[in-house]
Amino acid sequence: MNEQTVTIDAATCLYGIIGRPVRHSLSPVMHNAAFCRLGINGVYLAFDTDDTARACMSMRCLGIKGYSVTIPNKERIISELDEPDETVLRIGACNTVKNSAGRLFGTNTDWIGAVKAIEKKMDIAGKTAVILGAGGSARAVIYGLKKSGVDVTICNRTVEKAEKLAKEFNCKAAGIGHAEKIRADILINTTPVGMGSLSGTSPVSGQGVMNYGLVMDIVYSPPVTRLLQYAMNAGRAAINGLEMLLVQAMAQFEYWTGRPAPEETMKKALEYAISHETH
Ligand code: ATR
Repeated sequence: MNEQTVTIDAATCLYGIIGRPVRHSLSPVMHNAAFCRLGINGVYLAFDTDDTARACMSMRCLGIKGYSVTIPNKERIISELDEPDETVLRIGACNTVKNSAGRLFGTNTDWIGAVKAIEKKMDIAGKTAVILGAGGSARAVIYGLKKSGVDVTICNRTVEKAEKLAKEFNCKAAGIGHAEKIRADILINTTPVGMGSLSGTSPVSGQGVMNYGLVMDIVYSPPVTRLLQYAMNAGRAAINGLEMLLVQAMAQFEYWTGRPAPEETMKKALEYAISHETH
């Protein structure tokens, strides 16, 4: 699968993901495949930790070049950074850290994953969107959509949370049931409905999905959720969570290396890992 072989030696640069749980992360396969493809002397590992502060100390001390950051470290890493960028401060979460001569720079690429994945299917500026959920994932998606000139309505089970977020990002808010009735160009699910114990369930009915032109689910396991199945049955454009995962990882790779990410290689590695998952 890998086109080049890279020797691990004294000059090898270390990257990784910090999170807990992290063993099921698909980031290592994507980034290592990209390093191999471009002949970059780098290795990317998964670090199972929720000790954010010491993970950052290790980064400075050992010269680790970059981290992907996931639950539960995304919010609490901000205070450890020397230079969080505007995306981190507005979203309130950091998913990517770069160590540049001992200074830790932070950014958030989750919003890029959402926006670019949609842009592959339609022009986004001036469109309307309904976002299901008002948690951390919703914040990144909403930031990206607003930045791209989309009119956003947040629909959440707890309507007060939707209202609070709507105030912050200048959107509209409603209960989750409103997503059945509102018409919009784009529908994005950021809730866990459709995965794990909620697998096989959908946050919007098959009838409700007809109100949208494009449907995206940030859930990537299973790759085709019930919501996306409804969308495809109705002939609507459907984007799964793997696409967003891929695009945000490509943006991370570019942030760290300054080189264009090899999309096809990373995509193939991701698909291979998914199809060979034993869990
Ligand atoms: P994340 O960081 O992944 O976004 P989160 O911050 O816990 O996770 O947010 C999860 C979102 O999914 C919340 O908006 C939550 O709704 P509430 O604010 O009402 O808790 C929503 N959510 C979780 N389980 C849900 C369910 N069974 N049905 C509908 N919405 C659900």
